[in-house]
Amino acid sequence: MRLFSAAILFGLSFGTAIAQDPGLTDNLAGLHGRSDFHPGGSGTGGRSAYDGLPVYHNSEALVCSDCHSMHASAQHDYAGGTGSDPFATGGYPWTTQPTSKLLKAPNSLDLCLACHDGHVGIPDVLGADVNGLTQRSGGHFEPPDTNPHTGHNLGYIPESMKGAWGYCSRCHFGGTFGTAQVECIDCHNKHGNHRARNLQWASNPGGEPPLGLFMDPAVGAAFGDMARYERANVAYGTLDSVSLREPSNICIDCHHTFSGGYYIDRNADGFHERHPAYDSERASPNTVSQGATKGSTDPGHWEGGTGSGFEVDRLRFVVQGADTFAAATAVSALNNGVFCLSCHYAHGSDQSFSLIWPEPEPGSGRRGCDQCHNKAGY
Ligand code: HEC
Ligand code: HEC
Ligand code: HEC
Ligand code: HEC
Ligand code: HEC
Ligand code: HEC
Ligand code: HEC
Repeated sequence: MRLFSAAILFGLSFGTAIAQDPGLTDNLAGLHGRSDFHPGGSGTGGRSAYDGLPVYHNSEALVCSDCHSMHASAQHDYAGGTGSDPFATGGYPWTTQPTSKLLKAPNSLDLCLACHDGHVGIPDVLGADVNGLTQRSGGHFEPPDTNPHTGHNLGYIPESMKGAWGYCSRCHFGGTFGTAQVECIDCHNKHGNHRARNLQWASNPGGEPPLGLFMDPAVGAAFGDMARYERANVAYGTLDSVSLREPSNICIDCHHTFSGGYYIDRNADGFHERHPAYDSERASPNTVSQGATKGSTDPGHWEGGTGSGFEVDRLRFVVQGADTFAAATAVSALNNGVFCLSCHYAHGSDQSFSLIWPEPEPGSGRRGCDQCHNKAGY
């Protein structure tokens, strides 16, 4: 239980600091080129507390009518016309079944998917991508209740399996890891939290520290450009403290036995029992260079970027000490660490276990792995 009590205490003590984060009152840029169902010209962008880039569904960019309907009915859209609100698929006048908490869909999963699947100009997180990105940074899900082997199982989570302790029962107390499910608002704050992508702690929403997921400022400065969600335009950093943690800090809530020295190197002899995954909260960072002496990693090979393993794109890495996009893109074995998102997409992928890279043979072979290890050495 050390993680959870620590996390909760840590969240409480950090509450004040979050409220005082700089950046919230910075100059706010307008919403350029927003999706066409939104009313024109009425908003400025809610910002990430850390790097000041805009985050949608957050602060000034939290548009209540995106997700709530006051009377389960509307005769026209906010522009006075017949618009293209993804919920009003049959056009206007539009009515819907009244639902708990005035949601525009019967539950919180279908709510998000009504917009986030198959609409140009809205990041598409399910199946094929209608926005034509080369590779979505979060990868992609399969439809709810299909429980794919290629990533997170989306499902309709009962109230009893939500909340601070409720979510434990998805994998324990009757639930099983293999069949457990997740929904969007486990990981994303529905009303925005000034964190990149509104990422949150499932165990303690609102307690999470700022998270080092950075967009290239060239595409991240305004809404409307789907390049904000392109893998190549996202990079990761951490300051190893509550000031800024690696975004995989949110994974620990559920995958609480996969990182931290206690789980990955139980006798602390430097030889691992589980693969290292950067975990600053539990004082378990890593760098590609750390295995050089004993020959477990090959720093020069990682920096060189060619040969065994590099048949696939360079894997993503977290940069120790980086708090800007530029710093988080610099390749150096001395401060590049391996973390969950080096090997997995957060949502899902085309590969088994939501892995990043494809293999010619079933299993995880030298591709990817050998970028850091260079063991196949051909
Ligand atoms: C009415 C449509 C609509 C609904 C419903 C909706 N979204 Fe969004 N969402 C958008 C649009 C549009 C954007 C992209 C804004 C941009 O970058 O241009 C977005 C962006 C996001 C982002 C990325 C934010 C950023 O700026 O990095 C996240 C995360 C997200 N949505 C999560 C959710 C979740 C979770 C739900 C359900 C609780 C949800 N959305 C429901 C329209 C919607
Ligand atoms: C991106 C979608 C989204 C947007 C935008 C949104 N909400 Fe919500 N809201 C939700 C969801 C989902 C729930 C219910 C979550 C659940 O059942 O756990 C909710 C619940 C609520 C609740 C019930 C209490 C609570 O927090 O659960 C209130 C009140 C509320 N919203 C008000 C607002 C207001 C006011 C705005 C605009 C300032 C807004 N919401 C914008 C998705 C949204
Ligand atoms: C709210 C709890 C929760 C959080 C937070 C969470 N996961 Fe999971 N994850 C699960 C559950 C439950 C499963 C097992 C069932 C499934 O495959 O979805 C799972 C499965 C997985 C799998 C295996 C998928 C498969 O098809 O075999 C990977 C990989 C994974 N998670 C990575 C991550 C990463 C990376 C993060 C952080 C970005 C993360 N998870 C955050 C609950 C969570
Ligand atoms: C995504 C699935 C998942 C979720 C959610 C989850 N656990 Fe676990 N838990 C595991 C796995 C996997 C193990 C290691 C194997 C085992 O013991 O079943 C584990 C082990 C444990 C252990 C044994 C001690 C240890 O650290 O190895 C405890 C206690 C525990 N979990 C408590 C919790 C509590 C409390 C929650 C909610 C706050 C929770 N778990 C949420 C998957 C999960
Ligand atoms: C297990 C946690 C988890 C769940 C569940 C989850 N997300 Fe995400 N999401 C993330 C993380 C982490 C990222 C950042 C990925 C990155 O850039 O590496 C992300 C990124 C995003 C983005 C930005 C686009 C992209 O591809 O990076 C959107 C939009 C989004 N999520 C919406 C959703 C919606 C809608 C749902 C539900 C259908 C959902 N997410 C469920 C963790 C999750
Ligand atoms: C160096 C690459 C790498 C890193 C880093 C990594 N994983 Fe994995 N993960 C894998 C591979 C490969 C598998 C497939 C199983 C195997 O080959 O052992 C896997 C499997 C999984 C599974 C499925 C386990 C099961 O019982 O079915 C989950 C969940 C998961 N990873 C989550 C995570 C999380 C969370 C992190 C960060 C704390 C993480 N992984 C870091 C490579 C990695
Ligand atoms: C982005 C870099 C990176 C990638 C990709 C990567 N690893 Fe590692 N791996 C590391 C680092 C760093 C260590 C810790 C080295 C050390 O302390 O000796 C490590 C440790 C290991 C160890 C334990 C070595 C020891 O002496 O404790 C094994 C085995 C291993 N990795 C296998 C794999 C496999 C298999 C894959 C692909 C599924 C993989 N790694 C992908 C960076 C990476």
